[in-house]
Amino acid sequence: MSAPYVRRAILDRHSVPSFEEYPFSLPVVRGLSELELHPRVTFLVGENGSGKSTLLEAVATAWGFNPEGGTKNFNFSTRGSHSGLNEHLRLVKSVHKPRDGFFLRAESFFNVATNIEDLDKQPGSGPPLINSYGGVSLHEQSHGESFLALMMHRFGGHGFYVLDEPEAALSPSRQLAMIARMHELVGTRSQFLIATHSPILMSYPDAWIYQIGEDGYELVDYEDTEHYRITRAFLNNPAKYLDELLD
Ligand SMILES: Nc1ncnc2c1ncn2[C@@H]1O[C@H](COP(=O)(O)OP(=O)(O)OP(=O)(O)O)[C@@H](O)[C@H]1O
Ligand SMILES: [Mg+2]
Repeated sequence: MSAPYVRRAILDRHSVPSFEEYPFSLPVVRGLSELELHPRVTFLVGENGSGKSTLLEAVATAWGFNPEGGTKNFNFSTRGSHSGLNEHLRLVKSVHKPRDGFFLRAESFFNVATNIEDLDKQPGSGPPLINSYGGVSLHEQSHGESFLALMMHRFGGHGFYVLDEPEAALSPSRQLAMIARMHELVGTRSQFLIATHSPILMSYPDAWIYQIGEDGYELVDYEDTEHYRITRAFLNNPAKYLDELLD
């Protein structure tokens, strides 16, 4: 059985300056006291703008990841992307320490790729970092190829992985490949926190799904997510759906 590394994130509500201002004004933060994480996989789902990335980044930075993404060793920064929420979050950790970790921001994979190239250009120690990403510059692979290289080669298990919309790069069949890889990593004591819109990814069975809405967040079953219901209804009968939509 996989060990959890982060059991829950607790918002110190007393220290929040105002629930009228971003990020504390977001319904998901207003309603937050404790967010319990599944020991293996936790999904954050919900409408665009509901606050998934804000919450995910706060957990990632509270954990010690660079807010721009990457491992704990990356400390480049290209713009202020902090919401400040992390300063009011306390993570309850287990006694187990992960050996690996990665924070993938939707927008900043490019920066991670550049940072790896820059580090490898510096003279000195050890084998090139790119070797642990599959050996080919992430800039010379397609978006999806480089993301899968990251999952396959760089993610080593016994890790805490925080991913924002990893499906953005992936075809449906590669999303299935990603689920298979995730399952292997879970099998070697890894924990994932993933924001996603993908009805394929969120089908992973050994997981919790928090659906974020206007009233905060709630745990939902896979089949009850909006993503599953809308996609299913649409694919059942696209012509009828479009008829109504475009009428
Ligand atoms: N720096 C900021 N200042 C003020 N509001 C912000 C800031 N960053 C984000 N927001 C707002 O906070 C809300 C939540 O943004 P967030 O990026 O967390 O949403 P999301 O759930 O990840 O959406 P998506 O599915 O589109 O990625 C949005 O309405 C956004 O406009
Ligand atoms: Mg987002």
